Amino acid sequence: MKKPALVVALDFAQADPALEMAARLRGVVPWVKVGLELYLQAGSSLVARLKNMGFSVFLDLKFMDIPNTVQGAVAQATRMGADMLTIHALGGRAMAEAAVEGRDKALAPGQTSPLILGVTILTSMGPADLAWNSEGTAEDLRRLAVHLARQTQNWKLDGVVCSGREVCDIRQACGVDFQLLTPGIRLPDADAGDQTRVCTPAQAARDGSDFLVVGRPITRADDPVRAARMYREATE
Ligand code: C5P
Repeated sequence: MKKPALVVALDFAQADPALEMAARLRGVVPWVKVGLELYLQAGSSLVARLKNMGFSVFLDLKFMDIPNTVQGAVAQATRMGADMLTIHALGGRAMAEAAVEGRDKALAPGQTSPLILGVTILTSMGPADLAWNSEGTAEDLRRLAVHLARQTQNWKLDGVVCSGREVCDIRQACGVDFQLLTPGIRLPDADAGDQTRVCTPAQAARDGSDFLVVGRPITRADDPVRAARMYREATE
């Protein structure tokens, strides 16, 4: 069984606390995630600083727009040095192919290609949230997530973001080389907070997840380094 990599979500509103947290976690976790809130305040210079600290950076901005616009955005993220980024699978084939082209054209000589992951169906969505089928069931949603994962693989994306509960089905549908990233990870005795469909790190690792995203259980812990080590060890 391959051990998944731990990604700590730096969900802060300002650069300073994000950088302070990163400084504490340096050498303990390999990846950090920068999302919309932090990015809109701190921008590409924060990504550069995190890279200089030795982190791999997951830029989770979930692009969805016309293909030309997404191609430009992915090219910028690639030039900025992001190691992994997200687009919405619901943006469709032309958008996904444009994203891949934008990345490939922007790669500097010798640069490792950033992974492009598709967001299938947001795990915050329930059956009634589907704009085109408000009568759907939870099973319809799950099937749609697996279908979208297969499509993104056909469109040459590197993997998807999925809930821990979908990892098995998507792994089976898409094979071993497709990258699966799961948020909503909690140790068995941890407070789930506002996450409802949580999964333990051990279970996600057993099911074949490649990246585990953990935010508040580490960043809000009294001792974030100790918490990060506990999450890391839970997958060993
Ligand atoms: O603090 P917590 O561990 O719940 O943070 C999880 C991170 O993963 C947050 O940045 C959240 O936005 C993100 N995320 C998620 N569920 C998804 C996609 C992303 O929790 N389906």
